[in-house]
Amino acid sequence: MRTTALAGFSLLALAACSSTPKAPPAAPAPVSTAQQAVVMLASASGSRVSGKLTLAPMGDGVHISGEVGGLAPNGQFGFHVHEKGDCSAVDATSAGGHFNPVASAHGRAGGATHHAGDMDNIVADAGGVARVNVHLRGVTLGGGAANDIAGRAMIVHADPDDYHSQPAGNAGARVACGTIKVTQ
Ligand code: CU
Ligand code: ZN
Repeated sequence: MRTTALAGFSLLALAACSSTPKAPPAAPAPVSTAQQAVVMLASASGSRVSGKLTLAPMGDGVHISGEVGGLAPNGQFGFHVHEKGDCSAVDATSAGGHFNPVASAHGRAGGATHHAGDMDNIVADAGGVARVNVHLRGVTLGGGAANDIAGRAMIVHADPDDYHSQPAGNAGARVACGTIKVTQ
């Protein structure tokens, strides 16, 4: 008698489950689907700055490494992911503003408020070369979620980012630009 009652309950539970309305289609999960990307930074705004960066998903974000050359010796330079993968304008304004999928204010990476594309200034040595080794948290490489940086642009600026001024840290002209191209 008891077994029968339990079996009956299970059937009711299954029936209730199958009649539950379906959830709306989910947005792409914020998970990297690419293994690597490359950015060839080409000069913009008449500068001599160029470089090459390699990107790979790592932990809670994307790791970016490489070198940027042609910079003023011992200077600091704003460095960000920008919204659009379009470096066609001579001054690279075609790349749009800082990558900012959740409508934050500009700030310093790791601080309470910052754009998803905000990173610390890169620092040139006496020969005008900056060695880049940055972990950008909270973004993915591939996958198509709102925080995916594949296909966007990376930009080096003429001046340091003050991590404070809106909307872009008062970092001056865009002196190099390259798109984030997935290679594997
Ligand atoms: Cu920038
Ligand atoms: Zn910013």
